[in-house]
Amino acid sequence: MNLPVAELHIHLEGTLEPEMIMSLAAKHSIELPYSSIDELRAQYEFSNLQSFLDLFYANMLVLRTREDFHEITMAYLQRAHASGVRHVELFFDPQAHVERGMDLRDVIAGIRDALGEAQDRWGISHKLIACFWRHAPASEALELLRLMIAEKHDIDGIGLDSSELGFPPELFVEVFDLARESGLHVVAHAGEEGPADYIWQALDLLKVERVDHGIRCLDDEKLVQRLVAEQMPLTVCPLSNIRLRAVVTMADHPLPSMLEAGLKVSVHSDDPAYFGGYMDANFASLMETFNFSTGQLAQLARNSFESSFIDETAKRERL
Ligand code: HPA
Ligand code: ZN
Repeated sequence: MNLPVAELHIHLEGTLEPEMIMSLAAKHSIELPYSSIDELRAQYEFSNLQSFLDLFYANMLVLRTREDFHEITMAYLQRAHASGVRHVELFFDPQAHVERGMDLRDVIAGIRDALGEAQDRWGISHKLIACFWRHAPASEALELLRLMIAEKHDIDGIGLDSSELGFPPELFVEVFDLARESGLHVVAHAGEEGPADYIWQALDLLKVERVDHGIRCLDDEKLVQRLVAEQMPLTVCPLSNIRLRAVVTMADHPLPSMLEAGLKVSVHSDDPAYFGGYMDANFASLMETFNFSTGQLAQLARNSFESSFIDETAKRERL
């Protein structure tokens, strides 16, 4: 049986499987640069974060309608349910879809419909988090967030993702100030490829409630002490780290040392259609390498719920 967990670091567009890329391209008569699934799959070799992002952004262009967003979200939730996920905080990239002319209302409505159905069908609870691109100007993110707030778009929080190196969190202070003032939850990717300093910035300048990835914190002892003292959640994605070469092999993965240090870490799947699997595959790979004890597994599962934005009563019921 799969461990019951909360999935807190999952990009909706990263659940777009090759089969769905082909079927949506056919549905919308979109010409792809690949003639077969095998040719597409052959592209899934990454040398770093950017090499993945290039393919990830190209593939998501097949998502065109509210129905497409419903379909991809439902497919993910069905797979997540089968792998033990009881609560999900789903990321999506609004700029990617607005840029090619979609109405953000259709994007969010398609996702929300599927989240509601999964709640009814499988009891999976949810939050929805809009991630802004750090490779695009902060002024663009600020303008879009202002619009989303003015038009009352139905989101629970914001995040920060995309190319990390050269795009420090400090560029996005105004965006995060506005989000917090508007009652939105705030998270940010930091310390995936970027240095420990980006994690300090995410904490001190963006005042995040969770750090996505955060594995580079181990380069800085003072930072580890602070993260432990504050029990700041770090959403770690083991298969992603291997496939994007942030870590060489699973045996080198810092998760056991992070647990040992008392950091509040939990396990997540990031972009499962690209990195070799969903929550269950991440745990299977960790178990094969580290053979975690029942106590360690329970800790990881407990951390995932405690790090979530589910309200406190519901949280206690799940633990
Ligand atoms: N890092 C940054 N941006 C992303 C990622 C990631 O792992 N996945 C999707 N967008
Ligand atoms: Zn991510």
